[in-house]
Amino acid sequence: MTLDRRIVLGGGLALAACDRRADAQTPVSIPPLRSAAAFPVGVCVQEEQLGDPSLVPLIAAQISQVTPEWEMKMEYIVKDDGSFRFEAPDRIAAFARANGMRLFGHTLIWYAQVPGAFERLEGKRIKFGDAYRNYILAVAGRYHGQAVGWDVVNEAVAEDGNGWRDSLWSQKLGKLQHMVLAFQHAREADPDAVLFLNDYNLENIPRKRATFMKLVEALLKAGAPIGGVGTQTHLAADLAPGEITKALKDLASLGLMVHVSEMDVSLTRSRGVLKDRSKLLAGQSRVYAEAAEAFSSLPAAQRFAFTHWGLRDKDSWLKRENPADAPLLFDDAGRPKAAAAAWIGGLRA
Ligand code: G3I
Repeated sequence: MTLDRRIVLGGGLALAACDRRADAQTPVSIPPLRSAAAFPVGVCVQEEQLGDPSLVPLIAAQISQVTPEWEMKMEYIVKDDGSFRFEAPDRIAAFARANGMRLFGHTLIWYAQVPGAFERLEGKRIKFGDAYRNYILAVAGRYHGQAVGWDVVNEAVAEDGNGWRDSLWSQKLGKLQHMVLAFQHAREADPDAVLFLNDYNLENIPRKRATFMKLVEALLKAGAPIGGVGTQTHLAADLAPGEITKALKDLASLGLMVHVSEMDVSLTRSRGVLKDRSKLLAGQSRVYAEAAEAFSSLPAAQRFAFTHWGLRDKDSWLKRENPADAPLLFDDAGRPKAAAAAWIGGLRA
């Protein structure tokens, strides 16, 4: 028995139309995020977005800290011949400075990004460890005095929480030692920035959170100058109530700075992806409200910043995965959604 293509296509079109109807919510008016919160409110930004006449004023009105979405990573900075380029991150840094915003560096060492120039070092004059140190000194050193913090190591814990990830960095310099070196080199480059270990799924996979926390303790014991933990907080709208609160309490128990570093709340990644859209939107608001309440309930000295991984739905990386997703606080036109009011409503003084 095969599904009639017209029914399937029609169903898909109907779903998209119904998404738009369900998302078309009554207008919401909110104070700027940055003035509603008693801590810095961040967003990721791409250099090419700095020319967007509707986004730039929205960021300037709402935000007090920016994270380059990809241009401070090796994939942008390291060219094929092993030289470095900084035009885009420098423009983002200049934008932050011109708008009185903090700059957050993301990310120095990531298993997911290993440029060919590093892979081709085998047998070269320069030792791998020297090239590794040179890279970190060059990048973290360049933004010393402006970057308030760095994700020094990103996503070091295995997907299921069972140990640490393997990478060229760990193979060449040691499973733990490559991370200790990264933090030490970052501190040598920038004596002032808060240095973070950053990861995801720390809310919905408790085993991963436990492994992450043990890694932080191992790094501290090994002499890594780690000053903060970043929880990316890429969540789904059907996350069970209480998970975020538990996670932030656990992470804060390490006594370091805490950064909600990349929050978005996917509708379409929710388990019941065909579930009623308005229920998913309500779930999204609930998750945002709990994150705001849990983070703002942390000791003020530990609240580094709360960063959203985009402001308008259409800017989200998740749209590339599923155009029907709407994971952020503002709609495509830059209007605040119910989720924005919920996030502000969750804030505690
Ligand atoms: O914009 C350029 C385009 O001009 C160019 O022609 C094209 C050539 O490949 O690249 C485009 O840049 C892409 C960029 O996103 C902007 O769309 C990069 O290729 C692409 O790699 C980059 O993906 C980013 C990804 O990290 C990898 O760096 C996503 O935007 C970004 O949202 C995502 O963010 C990650 C965090 O760093 C870590 N946590 C998970 C999170 C989501 O995956």
